[in-house]
Amino acid sequence: MPCHQISIDGYAACGKSTLARELADELNFIYIDSGAMYRGVTLYFLREGVSFDTEPPDALVQSIDIRFEYVPGAADKLYLNGEDVSTKLRTSQVNENVSKVAALPNVRRRLVALQQDYGHTHNVVMDGRDIGTVVFPGAVLKIFLTANLETRVRRRMNDIKSSNQYLNVDEIRTNLLTRDHIDSTRADSPLKQSEDSVVIDNTNLTRKEQLVMVRSLAALRIQESSCKE
Ligand code: CDP
Ligand code: CDP
Repeated sequence: MPCHQISIDGYAACGKSTLARELADELNFIYIDSGAMYRGVTLYFLREGVSFDTEPPDALVQSIDIRFEYVPGAADKLYLNGEDVSTKLRTSQVNENVSKVAALPNVRRRLVALQQDYGHTHNVVMDGRDIGTVVFPGAVLKIFLTANLETRVRRRMNDIKSSNQYLNVDEIRTNLLTRDHIDSTRADSPLKQSEDSVVIDNTNLTRKEQLVMVRSLAALRIQESSCKE
């Protein structure tokens, strides 16, 4: 029976998914990108013209089929009602609307339940905003990752540049700041550091350095855990 969940929460573009993926590979856990799931629901609402100024009907939200698939060493997949939409989740339209969609309680209820299912069937590293506070409050290790704004803007710019997309530094900065504000101030499951999380500012850390640090913390916590497989 799998029993270990590791949560990595934090601000936009600080390196959560990079760290989560690398840690999952080291530990032989699965990796789940919860943000991709919120992006998938946003894409669905935009495509179908569903208004998200207020909560859409529960039946509609419950009917959306979202599945994240992780294959170590390969690109992650996000299936929306059976369609692979993995390459359609990072457009400016999705970036600009995802935090509004993620503030809707019935959308959160639906996705949190799906995210918890992954944790019941696998040892998992999951990144997002409320993973340590709401999705897996009993996680064996909770990381709260942060980096200064200009570092995060530069990292997101480099990622966009390497995918040959349109690039505007002011738009990126505004989007990160706007999402961080909405995510931290919403009523339902706001982004916040839980008291039992380990805060890591990776502004001056390399990927390798942050991985070494978190991997040894994880090994220690798993060893101390009462849950043995
Ligand atoms: O990768 P990036 O930091 O840009 O964002 P993401 O992890 O893909 O998440 C996109 C958005 O989904 C966030 O800005 C939040 O509004 C929302 N989200 C959330 O509310 N709760 C989560 N557990 C994960 C993401
Ligand atoms: O998931 P999140 O939006 O927090 O960030 P990400 O998608 O992992 O993107 C962060 C980018 O910063 C990636 O290109 C990482 O390689 C890079 N990074 C870095 O340069 N140094 C670190 N210590 C962590 C991440």
